[in-house]
Amino acid sequence: MDGNGRWARKRHLPRAAGHVAGVSTVREIVRAASDIGLANLTLYAFSSENWKRPASEISHLMGLFRAYFRGDLDELEERGVRVRIIGNRKRVEDDIRAMIEEAEHRTVANAGLNLTFAFDYGGQEEIAAAARELARAAAEGRLDPETITPELFATRLFTHGLPEPDLIIRTSGERRMSNFLLWQSAYAELMFVETLWPDFSRNEFLDALRKFGERNRRFGGVVPEAVA
Ligand code: FPP
Repeated sequence: MDGNGRWARKRHLPRAAGHVAGVSTVREIVRAASDIGLANLTLYAFSSENWKRPASEISHLMGLFRAYFRGDLDELEERGVRVRIIGNRKRVEDDIRAMIEEAEHRTVANAGLNLTFAFDYGGQEEIAAAARELARAAAEGRLDPETITPELFATRLFTHGLPEPDLIIRTSGERRMSNFLLWQSAYAELMFVETLWPDFSRNEFLDALRKFGERNRRFGGVVPEAVA
């Protein structure tokens, strides 16, 4: 969800206004995903590197997360959305951690859209934590290092229980992963769109999904010969 700041600058507004507009887009895209019966949607809301931003911007963003979880949870619940948060919860303020836990708890049995927020999330940190956990188990004799496979490794990631992403869309014209789902994106299709996040719309989202459907995915293999 990139481009909030540039969206605001173009309008001679403070960056905060871009984030406020960004929340409206979050709402629109979550509704679209839920309406069409998408199984999984993960939104990169705050990276482990975003703590480097000015304190005033961080505090404004945290306020938006609070307002979102306070104001939108009922609708998410009605839609049967299951909410998850992936990231390092130790650094966030206590009340936000409590809100996150409540949102996860309240929606745990929902069978609709799996909506995941990457929040205080960093892919390298996630991989290092998984490696640390496995290394500790091996050092303590609880794990034979020879049994470590990609599948076992993935069970130690925040995303355990979620499928790997099929499609990653980055808005605002930047062509980087920025530490997002580094392990999980091994075979993800990447799509970079010029639109700034606050201008991204349901139509553009559906269009991206249509284009994804036309991609030829081989997962390192070959396309089987068409059967006549
Ligand atoms: C990147 O744009 C965006 C973020 C770091 C924050 C994303 C947050 C939201 C969309 C709003 C809050 C979300 C929820 C779920 C309530 P940028 O600010 O880096 O934009 P720029 O690159 O144009 O400066």
